[in-house]
Amino acid sequence: MNFQEIVPMSVFGTVGSEASVMAPGFPPDHDLMDLVPSLNPHYFFRTHLRMPVMNFLYSPGGDALSLVGPTGSGKTSLLEQIAARLNWPFRKVSAHSRMEIPELVGSIGLECDLATGDQRTVFRYGPLAKAMREGAIFVLDEADVLDPAVFAGLNAVLEGGALVLAENGGEVIYPHPNFRAVITSNTRGQGDEHGLHGGTMAQNIATWDRYRMLEVPYLSKQEEMLIMTSTMPKVDKVILEKMVDIANDVRKQYIGNPEMELKPGQPGLTITFSTRSLLRWARIGATYSSNKNAQVAFPSTMGQALREALTNRADKAMRVVVHTIAKDAFGAAWGADPVLA
Ligand SMILES: Nc1ncnc2c1ncn2[C@@H]1O[C@H](COP(=O)(O)OP(=O)(O)O)[C@@H](O)[C@H]1O
Ligand SMILES: [Mg+2]
Repeated sequence: MNFQEIVPMSVFGTVGSEASVMAPGFPPDHDLMDLVPSLNPHYFFRTHLRMPVMNFLYSPGGDALSLVGPTGSGKTSLLEQIAARLNWPFRKVSAHSRMEIPELVGSIGLECDLATGDQRTVFRYGPLAKAMREGAIFVLDEADVLDPAVFAGLNAVLEGGALVLAENGGEVIYPHPNFRAVITSNTRGQGDEHGLHGGTMAQNIATWDRYRMLEVPYLSKQEEMLIMTSTMPKVDKVILEKMVDIANDVRKQYIGNPEMELKPGQPGLTITFSTRSLLRWARIGATYSSNKNAQVAFPSTMGQALREALTNRADKAMRVVVHTIAKDAFGAAWGADPVLA
């Protein structure tokens, strides 16, 4: 599969003379199209993040890419939505603390011949081995929860080296020229001072030397408003704006946010708004607010929507803090919220 200059920059939301510039991508009818993420037409690209990611994809120069930022700031979706527009095959794996290398590169398993009942051993390739062979973008999501030894063991490959599958008779997989390795994480590999991202382990600093690093902060208010109004054009802008403000207040008090701002005596929140949960809140709120039965069932339709979108995940104390922030912003329109009763 070769690059062709076929992707108009307008698909990334660029305007003016840049919109008609053609970027390299893959034709939309290749054999691995089922690995290409689906395209979200409302996705908003921040130029200062989109540009370095595309620059990395086109000229990795032997590096892997690392995206660092708080939960829900848009790390994974940035990669997915760029891949969706370039028709670049994409394989994503969520890391977990007990993950071992065979889960990524492959392992031997048993296969049963249904006709004869005979069993034989087969090697099943893991997602990393497949991505290397196919020329896919390989994303290791939440990589900072990996055991540091496992993480270190992946380095040679993530840097562009060949993969040796000892379990498969020493098979060597050389990376396809279109193979790219990306990791995302909440911390910078220095461990997690708040113990929030359960299991985040300090990674050996040396292992991070091979990564091109990009910080992905939360969207600004203006940026998030663009997404909210384009996803929900029928909802009153004033209401959407209040919701974005509330989300940002919650984020400021979230203890996993490196830019946390707490007033004296404030406890710090253990839940936070991602853009996803904010959109979910607005979507559910809009449904209930326009439904007579829901208005009867829920004296605070926005409060009920907030619970379903976010705060049912939290303990009671946290829920009260978040609902108080929301009620203060909405005033009387918030209604009689049982959470605050
Ligand atoms: N720039 C954006 N435009 C539109 N939606 C976004 C944007 N950034 C994030 N989102 C929404 O927020 C959700 C969470 O983003 P995600 O990329 O999964 O966050 P992270 O990987 O940083 O935890 C996405 O599924 C998407 O719905
Ligand atoms: Mg993610």
